[in-house]
Amino acid sequence: MSVYTEKNLFVLETKNTHYAMAVDCEGHLRHLHWGGKCKVKDYFCSETEERNSNHSGADFAKYEYMTYGGVIYRPSAFAAAFSDGCRQAELQYSDFSVFDEENGSRLEITLKDEEYSLEATLVYRITDGSDIIERSVRIANNSDKDITLNKISSGEFNFPSLKPYISTNANGAWASEFRLTKTPVESGVLTYESRKGNTGHGNCPYFILSQNADENHGGVYFGALAWSGNFRIEISRDFAGVTRAVAGISDMDFSYTLKSGETFTTPSVFCGYTQGFAEMSNQMNRYAVDNILPKEFAKEPLPVLYNSWEATGFDVNCKDQLELAKIAADIGCELFVMDDGWFGQRNDDHAGLGDWFVNKEKFPDGLKPLIDGVKALGMKFGLWFEPEMVNPDSDLFREHPDWAYHYPTRKAQLMRNQLVLNMTRSDVQEYIFNRLDAMLNEYDISYIKWDMNRPFSETGAENLQNPQELWYRHVTAVYDIVDRLKAAHPGLQIESCASGGGRAELGALSHYDMVWTSDNTDPVDRLYIQEGYSMLYPIKCMRAWVTDTNRRERPNDLDFRFIVSMQGSLSLGGNLHEYTKEEIEKSKKYVALYKEIRNTVQFGDFYRLATYENNGFYATQYNDDSQSVVFVCSPATSFFNDRLRTVLFKGLDAHADYCVSFDDCQFTKSGSYLMNVGISLDLTRPFTGKIIRLKRM
Ligand code: DGJ
Repeated sequence: MSVYTEKNLFVLETKNTHYAMAVDCEGHLRHLHWGGKCKVKDYFCSETEERNSNHSGADFAKYEYMTYGGVIYRPSAFAAAFSDGCRQAELQYSDFSVFDEENGSRLEITLKDEEYSLEATLVYRITDGSDIIERSVRIANNSDKDITLNKISSGEFNFPSLKPYISTNANGAWASEFRLTKTPVESGVLTYESRKGNTGHGNCPYFILSQNADENHGGVYFGALAWSGNFRIEISRDFAGVTRAVAGISDMDFSYTLKSGETFTTPSVFCGYTQGFAEMSNQMNRYAVDNILPKEFAKEPLPVLYNSWEATGFDVNCKDQLELAKIAADIGCELFVMDDGWFGQRNDDHAGLGDWFVNKEKFPDGLKPLIDGVKALGMKFGLWFEPEMVNPDSDLFREHPDWAYHYPTRKAQLMRNQLVLNMTRSDVQEYIFNRLDAMLNEYDISYIKWDMNRPFSETGAENLQNPQELWYRHVTAVYDIVDRLKAAHPGLQIESCASGGGRAELGALSHYDMVWTSDNTDPVDRLYIQEGYSMLYPIKCMRAWVTDTNRRERPNDLDFRFIVSMQGSLSLGGNLHEYTKEEIEKSKKYVALYKEIRNTVQFGDFYRLATYENNGFYATQYNDDSQSVVFVCSPATSFFNDRLRTVLFKGLDAHADYCVSFDDCQFTKSGSYLMNVGISLDLTRPFTGKIIRLKRM
């Protein structure tokens, strides 16, 4: 892992790849190569020349970070306007620096627009033992006038093949997050985005581009943006067949006024090139744990959590919660979370948001009796908040009607009876921080579920000189409060939730310890959601509840529900009062088993062995040095001729022998046999699953 800088050539060498750039004779930073390693001396930068009256040389060039304007007509990475009316920034190579870091190196290449004293520093960070490159851009205004930034992407990417790539992303909705799509990029611009203020449930803020790839083979390029607000990923294929991507904060209704002497740093985009999707997911899974997640808990397994939302809804009180807590503790849960309903006049979703004071009718003696009770049962206590929101029917709104985003001339549109607080105001930020901080000071709370249940609308922010900055400033204010709460309360874990998976990506995971991926807890649907999530996001952060919802709507065994949820961070969310004795015993058994395998699941190598889409059944494998665990889930159909399914294992030592155990079977086979011949399973019964454990002999 090194950075080569020779003459005007820059090569980032990662574990298996090269990323090469060079400065051309016009002073532009050009992209040369991303992929397998070559001899550094072989890289060179060709001249660009005008081809005809309609195509300049720029049409045929690959640039690292091209600005809007001039003869660039494709999606550009950057656009700025200057105080004299010029809307064309021109960034020319200026200088570079290489920095040694604890576990890698950082290359910074500075481009300058001398005329307007504008600087863009492209930052590339590489890390030992990985192919992931972290990219970001730092913009500096060294002039004495304001500069308006209209588009500030985190990176522009160029891909080598002239043949169309297949783009993998998601097309989701509430309760339907991470539903993977595959789209050929043949012409035009394919855009994935959110315009909702948060990440949203629809598209993912990443690109994954592949050709003839499957889990094990074929080149895969990917780049995941760490940003929890409006984003835009633009993937284009031009007239000459060149595919490019631009990834960053969305430029919709956005601009940022960079004042004299100020800098603006974009969110990071984590990108890489691997052979096959499994290697991509594994590299990002490991990298996120080592480099992205908040440090305090990054390498600690997450506790088994019980959340009372699906059991009690808004109807919470000390007695009922404690009764649930007793059963949850008996089952083996380690953290008891009381969800919505404990504050203000919160009896349903019409009132109370913003009033983060304990509801005295429901908890006459405050939360202490409940928290003491939970702790006496050996569990930690967690609490739900939705800090960015306010109900018009709340004391907060009655006192500060101007604290929600609004336009005086437009009717505020409610969604779930609530409005979005103007988080760009310092008084709003302080109120939220102080209320949560006060609750954490008063009570022994180890975990917060930070929810966010509606998108933005009427986005007026009179407090800002440039109100179009609100999309950016809202997100950084949220990150800042989360960071401050964690700094003030060591040991506090925070989960990101936004009506399920509306804020589940690497930006959130740079601040929160885990995410809630969906309100949909139907186990079959959940497998699709988990598969989509697993593409680029860390397994340990994926909270997965065993609930009852779908026992009613689509009956399926408790075993199956556990087997699905154990593939992430196991959590429980059912109405434990209604569990039979057998169900309690079964839950105990699975929670105990999960504790035996949780390190492997949360930190091991991860393989999608089979998916419903490709194989008609679903199987995942998790390996570490101590063991290997495989979860197999049957199809929803029961065709006789689909009875037998072969599971081929992955990532084993071909020369070692493994003791394989599941159900009542136990046998020994070599790693090579298990990976090449595999085992045959009868999966005729829908909604059933198996947990197969492999121990190296
Ligand atoms: C939406 C979340 O996704 C649920 O888990 C729950 O916390 C509700 N909000 C509470 O209102």
